[in-house]
Amino acid sequence: MNRREKEQYLREYAVLKAKGKPFFPYVIAKDGAMVMIVIGIILTMSYLLGGTIAAKADPTSTTVVPRPEWYYYFVFELLRVVKPAAITPLATVGIPTVCLILLLLLPFYDRGPERHPLRRPIATTAGVLTILVTGYLTWMGAEAGAPTEIAMPPSANVVNKEDPETVELYLKGREELPSLGCLACHQIGENGNHGPGPKLTDIADRLPEAGIAQTLRNPTAPMPSYQSLEPEKFKAVVTYLGHLTKENEENPVEGGGE
Ligand code: HEC
Repeated sequence: MNRREKEQYLREYAVLKAKGKPFFPYVIAKDGAMVMIVIGIILTMSYLLGGTIAAKADPTSTTVVPRPEWYYYFVFELLRVVKPAAITPLATVGIPTVCLILLLLLPFYDRGPERHPLRRPIATTAGVLTILVTGYLTWMGAEAGAPTEIAMPPSANVVNKEDPETVELYLKGREELPSLGCLACHQIGENGNHGPGPKLTDIADRLPEAGIAQTLRNPTAPMPSYQSLEPEKFKAVVTYLGHLTKENEENPVEGGGE
């Protein structure tokens, strides 16, 4: 802010101050009224709609899918997409902290006299970007499927047309796969993480069953080898993946197969 701007600001300030009302009691009364209204709305809503208390926590349950409250979905999504363990704290604690510090320091580095959003391009861009990025991450976090199941229904092509033995292996593979940790690195349908491994939703269009089995025995790092898996399980997983084609995906069994 140069001297001319500062003088103009001080002049405007003096005019406004002369015209305005004192903080006490006007602003206090106004804020107090608003606080009462907000508390009133919360009380009315909890009386009319009721609050819900979730089921009691069960430490012995192994099927629980931990999910944060919706307003933490953006941090949850950051945790999901930032893979290397070494930089996870940087992403989940570091980035929000740096943003908060930048926000606290705003009055010290943004000293322009302008107040209109269109004349403060940097502050406005940063604000809009923050809202967009947080909104996007919240959306992605809310959409994330559980890593403990495959929601994508079995295919009618397989279930109705293949021989019973193949169908049994296929369904067993679909059941077993999430417990093997594959979804920590791969996505199948809506479930699993977006990486580091490629999406397996249509893997059979790219890789025949023999190729899938070969990958499981002799993978490229960081994928671990599943060489020592029980043969029956191994076969089931390979059979399941070997039938994951786009065509099969678009032809699910009635009722989602559950
Ligand atoms: C630690 C992460 C990780 C885990 C766990 C993991 N994978 Fe992978 N997987 C990868 C990566 C990374 C690649 C890509 C390797 C490459 O392109 O050479 C890959 C490649 C593959 C491929 C070949 C994909 C293609 O398009 O060629 C298949 C099939 C596969 N994984 C299946 C599985 C199955 C089934 C499991 C569980 C039994 C599993 N993966 C577990 C990381 C993982």
